[in-house]
Amino acid sequence: MTDNIELTHQQERAFQPQRLSAPRDFILPSIIGENKNNLPLLLEIGAGKGKHALGFAVRNADKHLIAIERTRNKFEAFAKLAAIQASPNLDAIHADAIAWTVHAIKPNSLAKIFILYPNPEQHNPNQQWLNMPFFEFLLSRLQVNGEVILVTNIEAYMDNAERQATKVWCLPNTRYTVATDSQRTHFEVKYLARGETCWELNMRKPEGYKTRFDEWQVGHISEDK
Ligand SMILES: C[S@@+](CC[C@H](N)C(=O)[O-])C[C@H]1O[C@@H](n2cnc3c(N)ncnc32)[C@H](O)[C@@H]1O
Repeated sequence: MTDNIELTHQQERAFQPQRLSAPRDFILPSIIGENKNNLPLLLEIGAGKGKHALGFAVRNADKHLIAIERTRNKFEAFAKLAAIQASPNLDAIHADAIAWTVHAIKPNSLAKIFILYPNPEQHNPNQQWLNMPFFEFLLSRLQVNGEVILVTNIEAYMDNAERQATKVWCLPNTRYTVATDSQRTHFEVKYLARGETCWELNMRKPEGYKTRFDEWQVGHISEDK
């Protein structure tokens, strides 16, 4: 489908995965090496205290979610609840999602990526996820027809994300307004209780999509056993 489209992102500065060292205390989750039941693999970036990840794992026993949070105190709250819940289909990871993804996720392996209420980065827009060269790498980890779900309460963030998804990343996408009774994450509950509008952008990786990282993988990710 994208064969004849000159992907605009390939004219952008390329992300350099080889420059990133593995996060401290990095351990490869067993699901990466041996996904025995062939469960669809999903990634959540910036999971906070894990409200969405914990609920998702219970409701979706047929999927495996890896949820990453960088801030220590939030991660500790998440890890405590994850240990009590003990869902076999959830990995709670304390790391920077960029370095961790580079070191753990194989190309073309994720069915879905959740980015729920990312930091607004209004004063540093090049840190917004769809403005980052890393986003191309992230797309290389997604399977064909896999989705990226982005949710925010900042209209300007959503406007920019929608524009970038279409113009730079050439991804079919749909924008929704989040239902006022939705309660997926702590930030979602807080914003909706204040009467704010929240937006969701669903982006899909189409057939034939190419990135500069489709073959790139760190040496320590073994093949499926
Ligand atoms: C505004 S909070 C939202 C948390 C949660 N998703 C929610 O909706 O309640 C954004 C979170 O993303 C995390 N975060 C930002 N950049 C990250 C990165 N590179 N890797 C992992 N987590 C990150 C922050 O630590 C923060 O907890």
